[in-house]
Amino acid sequence: MPLRQAIRALPQNNTRKGRQRLTRRAVVVGTGHYLPERVVENAEFEKTLDTSDEWIRARSGIERRHFATEGDTTSSMATAAAEAALKDAKLTADDIDAIVLATSTADLTFPSAATMVQAQLGMTRGFAFDVQAVCAGFVYALCNANALIASGQADRVLVIGAETFSRIMDWTDRSTCVLFGDGAGALILEAQTGKGSNADRGILSTDLNSDGRYKDLLYVDGGVSTQSTGHLRMQGNQVFRHAVEKLAKTATTALDRAGLAAQDVDWIVPHQANIRIIQGTAKKMGLSMDNVVVTVQDHGNTSAASIPLALSVGKERGQIKPGDLIVTEAIGGGLAWGAVVLRW
Ligand code: ACO
Repeated sequence: MPLRQAIRALPQNNTRKGRQRLTRRAVVVGTGHYLPERVVENAEFEKTLDTSDEWIRARSGIERRHFATEGDTTSSMATAAAEAALKDAKLTADDIDAIVLATSTADLTFPSAATMVQAQLGMTRGFAFDVQAVCAGFVYALCNANALIASGQADRVLVIGAETFSRIMDWTDRSTCVLFGDGAGALILEAQTGKGSNADRGILSTDLNSDGRYKDLLYVDGGVSTQSTGHLRMQGNQVFRHAVEKLAKTATTALDRAGLAAQDVDWIVPHQANIRIIQGTAKKMGLSMDNVVVTVQDHGNTSAASIPLALSVGKERGQIKPGDLIVTEAIGGGLAWGAVVLRW
């Protein structure tokens, strides 16, 4: 077996000669979210587009979404979500070593939205950066934050997903503009010592993938080097075809790396793009919808914000409890996709 494969095949419980090795784990100690005040019901789109509430509900599961008002930006929403997470964790910005912010819709070309959040929180130490993997952004951000904690670079990391996709919609394209929404969600990860087994709290395993050959399925037709902002373009049915298969596979791979199986999962907290993708993925994994946190009906697809929003809402609803085994999975433009297994 090649060395790389052999290392990957090592059990995550790190046992050596029967003795357990202590492991730095990235444990969730706070959650928060922010949704802009403006709520738009499906029926609103009937006034300007050849569409219907019935079509949108049946094909996507979406009933309403929040859109940023004039004063909302990605960094302002991210800051509001971060403040809620800090309050939940009973911490202040001074306790945070790093901010990792997943977004494809930063306020400015640079600096990063993360450093703008850092300033808005009054945080004058540590470091902050953005991660861009479109709808898979939060999974990528979690993996980065986990690596920072595991390597000892940071003890507490604020991980945020925040988006203003309403700013890149083509409002004449009924096949995309009815699907997206704006918002932000945040988690605080803290280094805690685990026993190195999959009974530990915190992030247990991760799996990331991308395949740039699929760029044309989902992209924005503008950017800095083409001197425009552009609009989101998506071949939705093609993305759909990739989604269920790739999501079930990445979730299963991540579980396998943690020495766990689908039956061990308490909650799938999926990227909230389409209820049919969410149902199809759960079914392929052999899990019931009773094990899935669903917010797509109220938020639409908020891209990198959807998973932290769902985690925060799922906790508020009393669905997610300490000790629960959670799998998050997402796919988006790139294509980029991945999964994270964590114990709450
Ligand atoms: N209202 C009414 N009819 C519509 C609408 C609408 N809003 N949008 C499209 N239609 C029509 C189409 O024009 C088409 O008509 P035709 O048959 O006459 O050509 C028909 O409905 C069927 O269109 P499909 O695209 O095949 O519909 P589908 O059942 O696939 O649903 C959807 C479309 C909801 C976009 C679905 O494909 C989907 O969710 N795809 C995945 C999206 C996703 O997961 N994206 C990844 C993350 S996003 C990111 O990374 C930024």
